[in-house]
Amino acid sequence: MSNRRTFAIISHPDAGKTTLTEKLLLQGGAIHLAGEVKARGQARRARSDWMKIEQQRGISVTSSVMTFQKDGIVFNLLDTPGHEDFSEDTYRTLTAVDSAIMVIDAAKGIEPQTRKLFEVCRLRSVPIITFVNKVDREGRSVFETLDEVADALALDVVPMSWPIGMGGIFQGVMNLATGKVSRPEGDSREFLGKVDDLSDMTVPDEVLEEIELAGVGYPEFDIEAYRNGDMTPVYFGSALKNFGVIDLIEAIAEFAPPPRPQSSNQGTIDPARTDVTGFIFKVQANMDPQHRDRIAFMRMVSGTFTRGMKLTPSGSGKPIAVHSPILFFAQDREIADTAEAGDIIGIPNHGTLRVGDTLSERNDVRFTGLPNFAPEILRRVQLKDPTKTKQLRKALDDLSEEGVIQVFYPEIGSQWIVGVVGQLQLDVLISRLEAEYKVAAGLEASPFDTARWLKGSAEALKSFADFNMANLAKDRDGDMVFMARSSWDVSYQQERNPELVFSATKER
Ligand code: G4P
Repeated sequence: MSNRRTFAIISHPDAGKTTLTEKLLLQGGAIHLAGEVKARGQARRARSDWMKIEQQRGISVTSSVMTFQKDGIVFNLLDTPGHEDFSEDTYRTLTAVDSAIMVIDAAKGIEPQTRKLFEVCRLRSVPIITFVNKVDREGRSVFETLDEVADALALDVVPMSWPIGMGGIFQGVMNLATGKVSRPEGDSREFLGKVDDLSDMTVPDEVLEEIELAGVGYPEFDIEAYRNGDMTPVYFGSALKNFGVIDLIEAIAEFAPPPRPQSSNQGTIDPARTDVTGFIFKVQANMDPQHRDRIAFMRMVSGTFTRGMKLTPSGSGKPIAVHSPILFFAQDREIADTAEAGDIIGIPNHGTLRVGDTLSERNDVRFTGLPNFAPEILRRVQLKDPTKTKQLRKALDDLSEEGVIQVFYPEIGSQWIVGVVGQLQLDVLISRLEAEYKVAAGLEASPFDTARWLKGSAEALKSFADFNMANLAKDRDGDMVFMARSSWDVSYQQERNPELVFSATKER
């Protein structure tokens, strides 16, 4: 069976995702001090080229994919950008993982962004391990937190560990299966390896009562229920003080699913299939406007990839030889020699690869289920210099290819509309238009509130179009989109046009 575990961390900002990520990588031995990493020849050159790209971009590409290894298991941790706002990037990254860790703050419980990301996981039945962080500080009662997860997310919860007090009276975290307690030590009150039996400790009666109740009040952990996305094991800990981190790694190794089969136009594709297949879930561009090269991130679905292999992208249909793929190994990025199902490879290209593309050796498969999401914010693009129309069109096409924005070209009128799922994407759009395309543009309110992709027979589409031309647009692929003024508008049209499907997502 595969030794790969490909996962993401979902959380609300400030819950501790960054801290936990660092601790996971440390445990896996993947963080090296600068200079510690020895590199020679080709590998070194590749690494420094890559770092140059990162410097130019000014944001970290490094953290998109982090790989670490422990006890024979290879962990691929995919970063979901941790901004206040979502981008489609965040959503799409979740299409490339087999499981997720949901981090919640012990004092705050489930917060809006946690819930949103959770819903995306649920759509795809991505199994979730819950980590209740910051138990070294005052938090809510453990039962309250467990109830909240169960109620808010409609999941069966199974506590796997239990904090012995929190905040000022924090005495450690007990593994409920073994009765062993990881203890804080020293001035920093960190976990440094000290473990005691609960029976040897002096613990307040109410904590002992809690633990007794915990033992009877929750179902047994059931790996099938977890893998179906119906049950979540819950670990308590402190990323900052290193409590619960090893338990999480062990839980992922032991419970989290190895690479899962992926749905395609040919039914599900099994990871055991021998020829290489995969799909692009993210494209990141180089900031240097002279070099329009990008890195496409491909999630391997099956086969063993070797350097120089010819793969055909479903978008262009023209085979490409992948000579210098990037394998992500923490800070130490190497030229990939081989990669297998569950791994991510970065493929440098000049815009030929798009998010949603399938790549395959035999050019026969098309993966499904990589959605575009209906934008929640729509804006008209206002060009400050009318002679730059062509550049703007090119830029909007490029950036929508990258998944930074979606673009809609109305059937009537010349003002193009961009759609995003989070405000931040709009800021990114304006600054990249200026920096990379030398196009000064502004955004203004659009009369539309949301968009729906239309599906139906050619006849039904045409008769709908005849009556609703002012509300129709084409997306980047030329597919027809209904621009709605409100969600009421969507329901109204849906009722009146039962032969059409108004879809909030578009699969490519
Ligand atoms: P994020 O990526 O989810 O946004 O969270 P991040 O790891 O950056 O953590 C947010 C803050 O919470 C950080 O404090 C971090 O040190 C703290 N934190 C993370 N894990 C724990 C934990 O287990 N216990 C405690 N007590 N704190 C934790 P910061 O950057 O210093 O901000 P602030 O706390 O000074 O505001």
